[in-house]
Amino acid sequence: MKVIILNGPNLNLLGKREPEVYGSESFEQYFETLKSKYADISFTYKQSNVEGELVNFLQEADGQFDGIIMNPAAYSHTSVALSDAIAAISTKVVEVHISNIYAREDYRHTSLTAKNCIGVISGFGLFGYEMALSYLLRSAK
Ligand code: DQA
Repeated sequence: MKVIILNGPNLNLLGKREPEVYGSESFEQYFETLKSKYADISFTYKQSNVEGELVNFLQEADGQFDGIIMNPAAYSHTSVALSDAIAAISTKVVEVHISNIYAREDYRHTSLTAKNCIGVISGFGLFGYEMALSYLLRSAK
């Protein structure tokens, strides 16, 4: 099984960025743990702070992976381009948010990307990526 994880803006700063909200682990550290726990899965990880680059990642991933786990970060709340890209591809996308976006500022309560995803996981910390993976594993059977 092949899975790609796509992270949006500022998630390259995980571990340093607002640790009270996002925790103190970097994504790279978490990714190593995830890869060793799910050794049978072929993982790819990409992060970008640039909206168009994330659109390109989605288009390039289409048909190449069994599933996409994506945290569009702040672009979830603003990006019609990312929402359209998710709608345009046939590979399933599961949206993940580390924090509980519904318990935060009002402008975080709407996700434009969520409607084109299979579902959304929000508020479970980095464990949310593993929850998304569990779904993909289950649906691949
Ligand atoms: C986030 C939530 C977004 O509102 C925020 O802009 C992020 C991270 C999360 O993972 O909790 O950058 O997507």
